[in-house]
This record gives sequence, structure tokens and C-alpha cells, in this order.
Amino acid sequence: MFELALDKVQIEEKQGEAFKPFADDINQYNKKFYIESYGCQMNFSDSEIVASILQNEGFGATKNYEEADLVLLNTCSIREKAEQTIRKRLTEFKKVKQAKPAMLVGVLGCMAERLKSKLLEEEKLVDIVVGPDAYRTLPVLIKEAETGQKSVNVLLSRDETYADISPVRLDSNGVTAFISIMRGCNNMCSFCVVPFTRGRERSRDAHSITNEAKQLFEQGYKEVTLLGQNVDSYYWMDEANDEVITFGKLLERVALINPSLRVRFSTSHPKDITDEVLLTMVKYENICDYIHLPLQSGSTRVLQLMNRTYTREWYKAKVNRIREIIPNCGISSDIIAGFCTEEEDDHLDTLSMMESSGYDMSYMFFYSERSGTLAARRFKDDVPEDVKKKRLKEIVELQGRLSYQSNQQDVGKTFKVLIEGNSKKSDTEWKGRNSQNKMIVFPKENYNYTIGDYVVIRVTDFTQATLIGEVIYQ
Ligand code: SAH
Ligand code: SF4
Ligand code: F3S
Repeated sequence: MFELALDKVQIEEKQGEAFKPFADDINQYNKKFYIESYGCQMNFSDSEIVASILQNEGFGATKNYEEADLVLLNTCSIREKAEQTIRKRLTEFKKVKQAKPAMLVGVLGCMAERLKSKLLEEEKLVDIVVGPDAYRTLPVLIKEAETGQKSVNVLLSRDETYADISPVRLDSNGVTAFISIMRGCNNMCSFCVVPFTRGRERSRDAHSITNEAKQLFEQGYKEVTLLGQNVDSYYWMDEANDEVITFGKLLERVALINPSLRVRFSTSHPKDITDEVLLTMVKYENICDYIHLPLQSGSTRVLQLMNRTYTREWYKAKVNRIREIIPNCGISSDIIAGFCTEEEDDHLDTLSMMESSGYDMSYMFFYSERSGTLAARRFKDDVPEDVKKKRLKEIVELQGRLSYQSNQQDVGKTFKVLIEGNSKKSDTEWKGRNSQNKMIVFPKENYNYTIGDYVVIRVTDFTQATLIGEVIYQ
């Protein structure tokens, strides 16, 4: 999955990107909450649902946890390291809680779901534990905790999609936003904890999705990313029109809102992405030419153990099909090094698949066993850590070369870029993305552009993570 906002080659962790909400109207609220999010974009999106629920309860968001009445961590369990980061963060909160015992500390998200009330025993300062499907009960749980009781709700649901809750956009640039279109996952990849922490897959009402996108557009947003663990299995029955809404149809509905509203999506499972989706992408200029298509391993034998349900050849054919239908499509991947039983030959298969796919970027990890998963129950985590690390290093180096080549090929080309803000380095430069999701930085010069504008840029140079360009069109 995908942290679309992150820079290119990313080693081992996408976790730990805490975000801190705005608080410009904080004084109108009686109480303050502070929230930090970790893990995938779904979690960041959930925090915006939580913020909405809390705002209705009279809580305003603060950026400073020391002044908060309620401190929340929205957590991730995907790898061991993600959980370690959370535990470390909790010890940092301990000091504040000692000085201010009335402050409540809550753990939300996947780690809450995985550890349940065990978390209260392990982490004494935690007052509230809430799983991803139980956020509506937060007000009750907070009231319970205010009386000194520890409160927990980790019930998973078959139908909760929070469709009617209008998210409060946190830490937003006012231009790009995420919309959850489904929750949970039915895939059971053997290494993955998500089906256990997020429950069964369910799709959100298509009307509520298009309405949210419309509202965002009316508020000035120019790009929405449709989010799900496996967006291609989106399925919703539009009873009023007696029509089945597949992911392709949903994409089309969102694209039709306005040609200047860009549409992205993540994540696509290679087994499920259809020609319907690819052809819809070609049909609408505002659907971005970018697909995150996690490979995980290039070895058919390992893929089988991972329960990914495709072979190396099948994946290759899918990449060819994408390139045939959308010649300029950006493709990125997730790779796991050192899964159970992985031999050097399997690893070489992964490297060769990366090369033949020509990824523009990848998120790369070494395998981290998660208890309760199929792999933890069935297979031994038998690749020694130094071997995992060596293979991961080779994978990262190869991706570095592929990203370099991909960026080099863009020099001299022109792209339509949506301006997202000042570049990290300088406020005399803008940053924005092209359709293929590459970040491009360019000087503002004397042009009158502003955040949220589209601008045509010619690429003149590049670094590992960023293209550098200049405005060619006013
Ligand atoms: N739904 C998305 C991915 C969700 S998790 C998909 O199917 O692509 C994001 C990524 O974390 C996965 O693609 C995988 O590469 C990695 N990951 C998941 N479980 C892992 C584990 N136990 N160890 C290491 N990496 C893991
Ligand atoms: Fe995990 Fe596989 Fe579902 Fe992705 S598709 S969330 S990797 S089980
Ligand atoms: Fe992590 Fe849960 Fe997302 S485990 S990657 S936050 S679904």
C-alpha cells in the first residue's frame, strides 16, 4: 500500500509518519484532542473520521499533545517495527500523563485490534483501546474512561463503512484528499495481518463516495485518491438504477464529476485489476496514469506460499497489458525480501521481475512474521536476518537504478502538473505531481500560479526522488 505522499525509494518502513492536525478554531471547543497516525493511508483516512466524531462531541484538534485532554495513536501492525515505534511513542506520553493524570490516552487502529485488552495489561498508561470498526463508540468509551475505567471496543463489523460521516480533513494542503471506498480485506495473503485487524471486505455506498468527491471539488480540492486494500474488488449494487457498480464504473462516476478533478486509486491487486479499469483510465484524461501493483515476490513458488494466487508469468502478462493499453502508465510495487523458504534463486527471480516490470518506484521490506497469520502458523521464518537484509539491500539498489532510468527517460518531456505547495527546500519553488505520480519541482519565477493550479512543465533534470523542471506554458 501506499503512502502516495512519500518520496520514492522507501526502505523497510512507511510507518512512523505522524501527522499533527490543524487547530485554528480550537478555542470554540471545550476539550482538546491530539491524534497521530501511522501505517497506511487507510489509517490516515480513518483519523479524519475519528476527528469528525470527536468534533461532534466538543473536542477540537490540537497540534500539541501536552495541552490535550485526549491523546490518540492510530496504529499499524503490519511489521514488528511498526509496533515497536508505537510502544516507544507511548513511553514518551508517560511523562505528560504523570504530570497530568486526567489526560486520557487511547490506542486506535490495527494494533488495538490485534492486541485487544492485552494492550491495557502491557501498556499501563493506555485508557482506551478501539479497533477500526468501532470508532462510532468512541464518545461512550471516552465517558467511561473519564470515570477511571479502562474501556475497550474491538468488535469488527461486516457492514461498517462510515459512509455517512463527513471526514474532518487533517493536515490538509487543500488540494489533494483521500476517500475510503471500502474496508477490510478477504484475500488472506499468508504474510499479512490486515484481514485480522480490519476484518471482512465491504464496499461503501457509491453515492456517498461520489458525493464526498463532489463536496471536496466544491471546496477547491483538485485530486482525490480512492482507497482500499484491494480496490478492484469494489462491488456495490445501485438499487435505484438496478446497476452493479464495479470499480471501473465507480472510477468513471468520480471522473465525470469534473474534468479538472484528478482521480487516483490504491491499491490494485494484480489478480483483480481488469481491462474495464484500464480502459476507463484511458477514456478519462483526469484519471491518473499510475498503478500501484504490488509484486511481493518474483518467484512463482514463493508467490504460491504467499497465497497471492498469481504466477510470475501471469504478473508479467498483466504489466504488458497495462503498458499496451496505457503506454505512459507509471507502475510501482511492494516487495518483500526473505519470505519463508526463500532461496537465492527465488530472490534472483524477484530481481529479474523488477527489472522486466521497470518500476518507477517500490516500497521494499524484509519479511516480518506476524503471529496468527497463515504463514506464522504454517511455515518457519527460516531466512536468517543477515540474508534478509542482504537481499533487501540488493532489491533497494536495483530499484534505485530503475528509478534513475525512469527519471532519466523523463528529461525533455512535458507534463501537466498539479501544484501542491512550496517545495521542501525553498519557497521560491513549487512542487506538484504529474499524472504518473512523480513529484516535480520547478521555480515559481514571475508566473502567477498558485496552489491547486495545473501547469505544464518541461523536465530539465532530476534527483533520485524528484524531477526538476521549468514552466513552458502560461
Ligand atoms: N493491500 C495491499 C497491501 C497492504 S500491506 C496490497 O495487497 O498490496 C502493504 C505492504 O506491506 C504489502 O504489500 C507487503 O509488501 C508489506 N507487508 C505486509 N505484511 C508484511 C510482513 N509480514 N512483512 C513484511 N512486509 C509485509
Ligand atoms: Fe494484506 Fe493481501 Fe489483503 Fe493486501 S491483499 S491487505 S497484502 S491480505
Ligand atoms: Fe498497517 Fe493496518 Fe494499514 S496494519 S498497513 S494500518 S491496514
